[in-house]
Amino acid sequence: MWDMETLLILIDSSPFMVLFKDKQGRWIWMNQSFIKEMGLPPREEILGKSTQDLLPESKGLRREDREVITKGEPLLGLLRKVTLPSGRKRWHLTDKIPIKLSGDEVVGIAVFIRDVTEQREAQRKLERLNRVLEVIQNVNQLIVREKLGRNHLLNEICNILVNGQCYESVWIILLDPQRGDLLNIFSLTETKVEMKRCLSPQLISYLTPDSKDGFLDFKYEYLVRMGWQLSKRYTGKTFITSRLEHGEETYGIICALLPKDIELEKKEKDLFLTLADDIAYAMRKLDIRDELHREKVFWEKLFNVSPEGVILCSPDGRILRANNAFCRIFEFSTPEEVIGKNIDSVVANERTLEEARSLTEAAARGESVSAESVRQKANGTPIDVSILGVPIKIDENLAGIYAIYRDITDKKIYERAMKENIATLSHAWRQTIELLASVGELRDPYTAGHQKRVGGLAKFMAMKMELSPESVDAVEMSSLVHDVGKIKVPAEILSKPGPLDEVEYLLVKTHPQAGYNLLKDIDFPWPVAEIVLQHHERLDGSGYPQGLKGKEILQEARIIAVADVVEAMASDRPYRKALGIEAALKEIKRGCGTLFDEGAVDACLALFEEGLMIPLFEMYRT
Ligand SMILES: [Fe+2]
Repeated sequence: MWDMETLLILIDSSPFMVLFKDKQGRWIWMNQSFIKEMGLPPREEILGKSTQDLLPESKGLRREDREVITKGEPLLGLLRKVTLPSGRKRWHLTDKIPIKLSGDEVVGIAVFIRDVTEQREAQRKLERLNRVLEVIQNVNQLIVREKLGRNHLLNEICNILVNGQCYESVWIILLDPQRGDLLNIFSLTETKVEMKRCLSPQLISYLTPDSKDGFLDFKYEYLVRMGWQLSKRYTGKTFITSRLEHGEETYGIICALLPKDIELEKKEKDLFLTLADDIAYAMRKLDIRDELHREKVFWEKLFNVSPEGVILCSPDGRILRANNAFCRIFEFSTPEEVIGKNIDSVVANERTLEEARSLTEAAARGESVSAESVRQKANGTPIDVSILGVPIKIDENLAGIYAIYRDITDKKIYERAMKENIATLSHAWRQTIELLASVGELRDPYTAGHQKRVGGLAKFMAMKMELSPESVDAVEMSSLVHDVGKIKVPAEILSKPGPLDEVEYLLVKTHPQAGYNLLKDIDFPWPVAEIVLQHHERLDGSGYPQGLKGKEILQEARIIAVADVVEAMASDRPYRKALGIEAALKEIKRGCGTLFDEGAVDACLALFEEGLMIPLFEMYRT
């Protein structure tokens, strides 16, 4: 066994402070750690003295000593902050154990003291960080649930940060993103007024971090030197600021005052930057929400004020929304009257239901559809409308159908009037043409009926070739006057019973140009003069008067050329007897594609094969 001296040597080198006292509080023995920490003289000089003699500041210790001696039980884990004689402040954890020699008689106290300042400090920092973290969580919950808008949110964040004992004061300062001017300050009331007084434009710039991480910290004294008029209660305290930015957007800064005794550390700074990020995110979120709201209001207004009837349908044609113009066009009192109903059953009647359904189905397949049709009003009255149906796709899925209805009653009335007008005019032109034709034929009895027969044949050919109604009219009208220029050719030549000499033939060949000259100034709705001019042209350029080729010749003129040849060969002429239909058809077959238009030849042959043209020819035979 070790003797007492060995044990004391061991205790003397312990990092713990150890002090033995007798029943009266006199110091029996103490180790070197105790002497050093308490700044005491050498051991020989203080043995036998008491706490009262050497550490007069340590009042209250005697009460504890008395309790240990009286009760004979230890007092453990006594934590206290002490100011050492050197002035250093430390945290001591003390255990006091009663010393019993025999039986239960207490003869003294053994005091064991540990310096726990470092652990205590680390714990305090951890508690601080936990508090900040907790407050950030509360701010985030607020951001997630926020419904009352930006001002309410920012005021509430200031409340949470200050009342959660995280920061002594907090200011959220919103700045103009372009010019950096102050827009608004959010804080608790009294500090808000104070900060507003301080924030002149140049002082804002001192507060605005331009560091990469957007963070800045400074002491009260620095701000005062820069001209800030801040209360003296901030003396010695630290201000921290961070930019509030999200993506490209910078909203301003958040400035907070750290509590006294809190030294700025990296973790504290990181948490503050996280907080600033969260607030900037919230502001962006609210901006987007406001933008969406504004956009929604804009589209709602556009939808409602549109002069055209607009509805939004589900893909199966159920009306989800209808605007006022739709109700006005179809004479419903309110949109609610039609919402939920099928669009086709609302605006189509029995006659148009199938057509309406096919439009809706096409839109539901993703096609854009447009049509002019007749629909019915709420009271069953028909109404002319134009309809435009547009499928609305979201991520390639059909979300609905957007349909626009326009009342085209006025347009239809105008169109009908125009049609009647054109029919009247057309009739007048036909009379003019017939008059011109009859004048020509009066001078030339041998060709009397020729133009009528060419007109009949050419018209049927044009129809067979499926030309437009306007072109069919042009072919017929031009045919009826195609030889009108012959009135310029001497009658003796036209009626000469024998072959023509060269000069006579040249004179006859002037009739297309003469016809053109007669007709060119008459404002027909068809190019009659040009067609007449070209009716002796041939595909290969061998015709007259211009020697045009192929497509240079108007299609109407190419048709008349075929009809003219067939009729001429099939009829008697002053200088010969009729050669017959068979010979005529053979002739156009021979010239098909070289002299004559292939389509026109085919149409002509088909008409004779069908036996349609013989009665016509017979009808006009003189
Ligand atoms: Fe002719």
